[in-house]
Amino acid sequence: MSERREYAAFATRTTPRPSPCAEVRVAALDDVEPAVALAVTVSTAGAQGWRERLQRDVEQPDRALLVARVDDLLVGYARTGHVVPGPEDTAPEGWYLTGLVVAAQWRRQGVGEALVLAACAHVAMRADVLWSTYDEENLASAHLHAALGFRVVWRGDVGFPAQPLGSRWVLVQRLLAQ
Ligand SMILES: CC(C)(COP(=O)(O)OP(=O)(O)OC[C@H]1O[C@@H](n2cnc3c(N)ncnc32)[C@H](O)[C@@H]1OP(=O)(O)O)[C@@H](O)C(=O)NCCC(=O)NCCS
Repeated sequence: MSERREYAAFATRTTPRPSPCAEVRVAALDDVEPAVALAVTVSTAGAQGWRERLQRDVEQPDRALLVARVDDLLVGYARTGHVVPGPEDTAPEGWYLTGLVVAAQWRRQGVGEALVLAACAHVAMRADVLWSTYDEENLASAHLHAALGFRVVWRGDVGFPAQPLGSRWVLVQRLLAQ
């Protein structure tokens, strides 16, 4: 069974509403540039750094970039990957949702939800748990994670390599075993 068909089966069991996306799929290298253009709209990091990160997501087997497209337009992406925290980090090792962005004009239409469910389906073939973190002030992210069945494991300093210090982070997990 192709991964896309697996996603469809997973979504049928868990998606509470249809998404407007024509397609949510694992990205190819062609998707990197439009994803970079989207990444820089929500980040202070520069385009080159995003290009390298997103290209690694596409190329490395322990990572994946999922993209949502409507017609020929990339309207959102989710990043996922297996993270091995360093000795100073307190977050558990495992597969994480490492990024999620939906273009501003496409929000509140189910695109973020469709991307996270695609990430769940991708990781479900590799692990039993998908971990994620968000800033507790990010209400959109908090509500989205709660709506999709992620449960809070820890609040505070998550000790995850990519997290800036000084924010209040929430560590959540979703069990994937069906
Ligand atoms: C967070 C984000 C990805 C959500 O994407 P989205 O496509 O708008 O999400 P969806 O339409 O699939 O929303 C699914 C659910 O999430 C919650 N949600 C999404 N946006 C919300 C908001 N602004 N306020 C409150 N709840 C929100 C709701 O429960 C929503 O269901 P509902 O619309 O039926 O109420 C998007 O707002 C975004 O790109 N934000 C900037 C980047 C970011 O913060 N990423 C997350 C980092 S962890």
